[in-house]
Amino acid sequence: MFGQSLVTTLAAFMAATTPILASNLVWYTEPGSNKPAFTDGDKVRGVNLGNWFILENWMEPSLFGTAGLPGTDNDTQVMDEWSFCEILGKTRCAEVLEEHWATWITEDDFKRMADYGLNTVRIPIPYWVYNVTDDEPYITQKQIPYIQQALNWSSMYGLDVMMDLHALPGSQSSYQVHTGHYTQESFHTDSANIDRALDALGKFVDEFTKDEYEGVVKAQVLYYCSWELVNEPWIESYQANNIPWDFLADFMDRAYTTVREHENVIAGKTVSMVIVHDAFQALDNWKYWFTESKGSQWVNYGIDTHLYHAWSPNADLDNYGHVVAACGTADMLAAAQEWIPTFVGEQSLGVGTFCVDYKECFDLTSQDLMANVSAGSSDADYNNFYRALWESQYHAYNHGAGFIFWNWKAISPVWSYEQSVTQRWIPTDLDDTLWAYDSSQEFCLQNYNWSNVPSYPTVAVSPIPLGTSLPTGKALLINATSFPTAAITAVSTGPGIAIPTGMSTVPLSGGKSTTSMTGTGVTSNIPSSTATTSTSGAGAVARLSSHALTIAACLGFFMVLHSS
Ligand SMILES: *[C@@H]1O[C@H](CO)[C@@H](O)[C@H](O)[C@H]1NC(C)=O
Ligand SMILES: *[C@@H]1O[C@H](CO)[C@@H](O)[C@H](O)[C@H]1NC(C)=O
Ligand SMILES: *[C@@H]1O[C@H](CO)[C@@H](O)[C@H](O)[C@H]1NC(C)=O
Ligand SMILES: *[C@@H]1O[C@H](CO)[C@@H](O)[C@H](O)[C@H]1NC(C)=O
Ligand SMILES: *[C@@H]1O[C@H](CO)[C@@H](O)[C@H](O)[C@H]1NC(C)=O
Ligand SMILES: *[C@@H]1O[C@H](CO)[C@@H](O)[C@H](O)[C@H]1NC(C)=O
Repeated sequence: MFGQSLVTTLAAFMAATTPILASNLVWYTEPGSNKPAFTDGDKVRGVNLGNWFILENWMEPSLFGTAGLPGTDNDTQVMDEWSFCEILGKTRCAEVLEEHWATWITEDDFKRMADYGLNTVRIPIPYWVYNVTDDEPYITQKQIPYIQQALNWSSMYGLDVMMDLHALPGSQSSYQVHTGHYTQESFHTDSANIDRALDALGKFVDEFTKDEYEGVVKAQVLYYCSWELVNEPWIESYQANNIPWDFLADFMDRAYTTVREHENVIAGKTVSMVIVHDAFQALDNWKYWFTESKGSQWVNYGIDTHLYHAWSPNADLDNYGHVVAACGTADMLAAAQEWIPTFVGEQSLGVGTFCVDYKECFDLTSQDLMANVSAGSSDADYNNFYRALWESQYHAYNHGAGFIFWNWKAISPVWSYEQSVTQRWIPTDLDDTLWAYDSSQEFCLQNYNWSNVPSYPTVAVSPIPLGTSLPTGKALLINATSFPTAAITAVSTGPGIAIPTGMSTVPLSGGKSTTSMTGTGVTSNIPSSTATTSTSGAGAVARLSSHALTIAACLGFFMVLHSS
């Protein structure tokens, strides 16, 4: 019954030429249009911004070497943000954390996310931003301007935001640093914890959907916040002594109501999407909740499942087995996607747990870390394997509502989207896959050959050399001040795209530039494998993307544009 109504709703979406204002199942819309981001090509393509507002020692151990902490060679190294602030004291901890919030993720990161064709950031946020008690060591409230800044940048670079309540009072996952406190979970031992969590959630929603904020930001680019009620709650059926289902159900239903009561819906826009994490239960187990239980009263929701290869049941697979396992998730996601928007909110290329245990990460060089991601007998083998693991995940997760990689940034390359791009395990243009996909095959990458992948650079892609001609369907953004205007043959604009003063666009066709570029300083993120050479010219700035229609960076100097 539910599946049928989704099909009908989707058909209505696709046929509609007027804005869809409300529905049970509105997913994101792309900037400048009301098209649901639900169909092929408009999947969620995201990264997590973990270790920003909740520290995770293994992702950036050097921060835990901060003066005043036990140091790096000590068995009593601190694990979590709780101990971090407890030892440093509130004054010093606030100083260290403000420096971290200002530097861990910057505008340049958002710019590159857009550059890589991403359309979503998931931002883990903790309850203690708004609700601490005197006996908790956490810093409160000071995060707010940095979170605001993150939303502003998301808006500038055309990224949708998933606000993810990642840490609850008392901890919702046993011995997990991502809850802030590495300890036995006790969220469920006191119903006051629910009240505190809801108090914090309501304040988040108040702050980040308020008029004066949205009025400015959303006028530029349609920008959608969704709210994930709780990350990875461990419930009784997952592990004994954990949250009883009824307790979690009570929390979730009240949290849903809290979002609806506190959100400020901009005129003409739909209510924000509410997300539940699957609590490590089979997705089908949630059908009852959403069709017959409390969730049947909800509108506009989705489900988040986390698919990792570093832990059971995938931990002991060989390389071939990892790819097959990733391919094999497609059917499960497709089945769930028929009745609920289902995205993979966390994934990585980690196939072992090395450097997930924080003590292993200290003092390692990037060479050490690369040695530890080696999954074959040669560089070519392991680069090949990680690219294949990426491509199989990417294809499979597109059978659901898309992917969100954990994490954008981490010292270990297999846990870092930006480093994986540098290694070319993940292509700069997500459509630039090396192997054809056949969902009917157990090993879903066709013509896979361990030897036929081009060699991989270990450094960032070089600027386009003078003389480069560009592929079909790409576009150039050039700086008309330093580029001869005579060379500009056409200017294109599109939904949500504004052209900054002094910049013009040049669409390209037929695999060749219709303009010859003259100048120095031509830069681009285009992979050299798809670029051929032929330039002459001076002073242009080029940026390329095939994802321009899902991206609009209205306020920045840099824009991604499209050709018709
Ligand atoms: C390790 O840290 C603890 C707690 O700060 C301290 O008491 C101990 O002396 C340290 N041990 C060494 C060998 O540094
Ligand atoms: C974010 O943008 C809003 C709207 O322009 C502005 O009021 C606010 O000061 C900005 N916040 C930050 C931290 O830049
Ligand atoms: C935390 O939430 C509880 C329950 O709503 C409330 O009584 C308390 O005042 C809140 N604390 C803070 C610091 O706002
Ligand atoms: C990872 O690297 C460390 C440091 O180079 C090394 O001691 C360890 O044996 C490696 N582990 C694996 C699983 O390769
Ligand atoms: C794999 O690619 C290499 C290099 O292109 C080629 O020599 C080899 O024959 C290919 N192997 C298979 C099984 O296609
Ligand atoms: C264009 O180039 C000029 C001269 O190099 C420079 O001053 C200006 O900042 C550039 N404009 C943009 C939007 O990058």
